[in-house]
Amino acid sequence: MTTALITGSTSGIGAAFARRLAADGHNLVLVARDTARLGEQATELHDRHGIEAEVLTADLATDEGIEAVAARVSDRKHAVDLLVNNAGFGNKGLYLDVPMADELRMLKVHCEAVLRLTSAAAESMRGRGRGGVVNVASTAAFLPRGTYGASKAWVVQFTQGVARDLAGSGVRLMVLCPGFVRTEFHERAGMGTDGIPGWMWLDADKVVTAALADLARGKSLSIPDPRYKALMGVAKVTPRGLLGGVSSKAGRRYGPK
Ligand SMILES: NC(=O)c1ccc[n+]([C@@H]2O[C@H](COP(=O)([O-])OP(=O)(O)OC[C@H]3O[C@@H](n4cnc5c(N)ncnc54)[C@H](OP(=O)(O)O)[C@@H]3O)[C@@H](O)[C@H]2O)c1
Repeated sequence: MTTALITGSTSGIGAAFARRLAADGHNLVLVARDTARLGEQATELHDRHGIEAEVLTADLATDEGIEAVAARVSDRKHAVDLLVNNAGFGNKGLYLDVPMADELRMLKVHCEAVLRLTSAAAESMRGRGRGGVVNVASTAAFLPRGTYGASKAWVVQFTQGVARDLAGSGVRLMVLCPGFVRTEFHERAGMGTDGIPGWMWLDADKVVTAALADLARGKSLSIPDPRYKALMGVAKVTPRGLLGGVSSKAGRRYGPK
């Protein structure tokens, strides 16, 4: 049996990773801020799949939270074989409407926590000669899409860069870039989703199935749906000005503050 640690495991894409990995027989370390919800999730996954599910309450927007998860990832007696850096969120508003403290919180969760946890895991996995890290970014990383897209662009560049540095070490790193996925994300960010056409929505379980297949194939970048693969292909050859006009608006209507 191997062990996977998932940040942001209680909802959306993280919960889909937890369901799928538990069904495949992996033990889990579940990380989020809501202890009660983590406990319910651990009990359900244990009862349904007979796996061990540990809970770790941590706020990845704090040094203490990051350090607690890094310590668990580095624990060589209870090795973590797969790390999924999934926790993330969107701020409620466009650039300059969002307080700087919230922008910095996003960088802490999306970038600093991902850097520190990936490094803790990679160090320990390299010592064992095997292991995997999946960092959840977004197709927003490839588009002019506010500070959210900028933070996710960092996740893409970081993951693909260090995947090369660790080639041949037995440690696989992959960045996962989904498009719009039906989760709690948009409601939490106060984003109106009426303008997003139905065909653009992805299912979290299907995203995870495609991602794990890409990881098994040794890919360092996963865009887990043919529609978004095609869209990102078009985006590459579209002039930035035109692309920004469309992509910076889609799904970014915010409700009253
Ligand atoms: N949904 C989309 O359309 C979409 C598209 C592309 C990429 N993504 C990315 O996918 C990832 C997962 O998002 P989702 O859509 O599944 O969102 P979600 O349903 O809102 O789930 C977010 C998860 O992250 C946890 N979390 C949030 N802030 C945290 C913090 N400071 N410390 C620890 N845990 C925290 C939440 O639990 P607690 O609140 O209990 O901490 C929850 O388990 C994010 O990185 C997001 O940027 C989402």
